[in-house]
Amino acid sequence: MSERTLLFTPGPLTTSATVKAAMQRDFGSRDARFIAIIAEIRQQLVTLGTERPDLWTCVLMQGSGTFGVEGTLGTIVPREGTLLVAQNGAYGRRLIDLAQRIGIATQSLVWPENAQVDPHVIDAHLAQHPEIDVVACVHSETTSGIVNPIAEVGAVVKKHGKLLIADAMSSFGGVPLDLDAANIDALVSSSNKCIEGVPGFSFVLVRRALLDACAGRARSVSLDVYAQGQELDRSGQFRFTPPTQVLAAFHQALAELREEGGIAVRNARYLRNRSTLLRGLEQLGLKTWLPPELQGPIITSVCYPDDPRFDFPAFYEALAARGFTLYPGKVSQANCFRVGTIGQLFPADFVALTAAMREVLHAQGIATP
Ligand SMILES: Cc1ncc(COP(=O)(O)O)c(C=O)c1O
Repeated sequence: MSERTLLFTPGPLTTSATVKAAMQRDFGSRDARFIAIIAEIRQQLVTLGTERPDLWTCVLMQGSGTFGVEGTLGTIVPREGTLLVAQNGAYGRRLIDLAQRIGIATQSLVWPENAQVDPHVIDAHLAQHPEIDVVACVHSETTSGIVNPIAEVGAVVKKHGKLLIADAMSSFGGVPLDLDAANIDALVSSSNKCIEGVPGFSFVLVRRALLDACAGRARSVSLDVYAQGQELDRSGQFRFTPPTQVLAAFHQALAELREEGGIAVRNARYLRNRSTLLRGLEQLGLKTWLPPELQGPIITSVCYPDDPRFDFPAFYEALAARGFTLYPGKVSQANCFRVGTIGQLFPADFVALTAAMREVLHAQGIATP
C-alpha cells in the first residue's frame, strides 16, 4: 500500500499537512482562545457568502452535513408549512426523506440525474400551489456532478414570495455564489468539503431576520438551529460538546483559502483539475456520464469501459494500492465510478491518476487508445 494517499472523493477529502497539524493542539471548549476561533469561523463564513454580513448569521452544528440539513429544514419550515423539493439526485431525495421523517408536508418535482432542475417548471408549480412556504434544492448534486442553476431557482422562489433553502454541501467555497444575488435564504454546507477541513460539523448561513423568527419551531432539541444560533450569539459557545480539533483545523483551512486567493481562485484550480481529468480520461477512451456542458467542477461520473473484463473492485483496489482513492458509488441509471476534483489536489495529481488508470486497465487486459 502506498504511504501517500490522495482522495479523489467529494469529502472527506485530501487535506493539507498544515490543516492536519492544527489538530495537534488540545483546546478547552470554554477557553477564550477557542471561543475566539469559533467567532472568527462564523464571521469568515458569512463574509464568504455575502457582501451584506450585517443581514446574515452563521450557525455551526455538530455532526456531518446531513445533520445541518435536517436541522435547517426542521427549524425553518413552519410547523404547519409546506415544503417543495426540486430534486435530480440522491441528495435531493435525502431532502425529501429528512423532511417527511420530521412530519413536514412535502411536495417534490423530479428530474433525471443527468438534467438540471428547471426553474420554469418550479415557477409553474409555485403558481399552482400557493400553500408552499419553502423550496429546497441541492446546488451541486454530488450524485452525478451536475450543478443546478440555483440563482435562477432563487429568482423564481423570490418572485412567489417564498423561501429558498440551498444544500450547497459540495459547492460552497469551491463555486462562487453570492447569497443575496441568488436569493437564497438559508444555505447548508460542511467542514469537509470545499473549505478543505476535516469532517465533524456543518454550518448554516441564514438571514438573521429569518432565523430570529424561528424560535420554538424546531422538531428536535439537538438539531435546533435557532437555539444553537442564540447560544453562539450569547456566549460564543456551542450548546453541547463542540468538535474542538475539527474547528481548529477548519480555522486553518479558512486561512489557507484566503492565502490561495479566495473562492474564485480555488474555483479556477478545481476547473483546471477537472479539465486535466477530462483530457486524461479521453486519452484512455473513457467516457464521462454527463455531457461536458453539464459537468460541474466538483465531481465527475465516469462510465465503466464497455469491456466484460473490466472489474471495478479490482480497479479500485489496484489504484488504492498506488495511493489513489476513487469514489465508488454511482448514479442510479448507469455503471459509473466517480472522481472528485476538490480538496488539496492539483492538475499534476490528475495526470498521475490517469497514468495509473492506464496501467491498471492494461493489467486487466483492456486496451486504451
Ligand atoms: C449535496 C450533498 N448534500 C448532503 C450531503 C450529506 O453530507 P454528509 O455525508 O456529510 O452528511 C452530501 C455529502 O456528500 C452532499 O454532497
